[in-house]
Amino acid sequence: MKFFADTAEIADIKELAATGLLDGVTTNPSLIAKSGRDFKEVTKEICALTTGPVSAEVVALDHETMMKEAEILRKIADNVCIKVPLTIDGLKTCKALTSDGTMVNVTLCFSAAQALLAAKAGATFVSPFVGRHDDNGFDGMQLIADIRLIYDNYAYDTEILVASVRHGIHVLEAAKIGADVMTAPPSVIKGLFKHILTEKGIEGFLADWAKTGQSI
Ligand code: E4P
Repeated sequence: MKFFADTAEIADIKELAATGLLDGVTTNPSLIAKSGRDFKEVTKEICALTTGPVSAEVVALDHETMMKEAEILRKIADNVCIKVPLTIDGLKTCKALTSDGTMVNVTLCFSAAQALLAAKAGATFVSPFVGRHDDNGFDGMQLIADIRLIYDNYAYDTEILVASVRHGIHVLEAAKIGADVMTAPPSVIKGLFKHILTEKGIEGFLADWAKTGQSI
């Protein structure tokens, strides 16, 4: 499963990229606003930190303006993936862009039927938001399982990008279901490295090693 960082914070992306485990980045208008940076500048910087796809989102609601915005966004770098909302105009834009060879991430997906439409529109990625789904009393991971089943039934190429990930259990469940990608805040990704028994184990080994008086 590919790991994307869901952030526009350069320092966090650098830190994760240095592990060699980062496969891409997703941003959205709220994350760009949180960074306090110019969207073109920060997107360009992010694109230079990974060879993987960097999702940059349109903010228009109509197809024509979405196409104009996509043109501006895709000129930022070769690895920009245009993010469009799961609406009729968003999917029209997805179809037009992917037919032209541009990567598209269809975002704000909350049902398996919507995911089916995104695949039919040729989306590179579909982003079901599991955390927000759970928050509203639905089962986010069941949504991922349903999309996996449908995409496998028809051998759709669209990758399932599990988004709105809140904790390690979401990551684990996504991997068990066979999602293609998950995008999570840096804190969640860093949390995956940690285990109390790993820390205790290191502590114990180092204490015993110190008693030997040796060095490597
Ligand atoms: C996905 O691409 C979105 O940026 C993101 O995962 C939204 O997550 P949130 O629900 O934590 O805002």
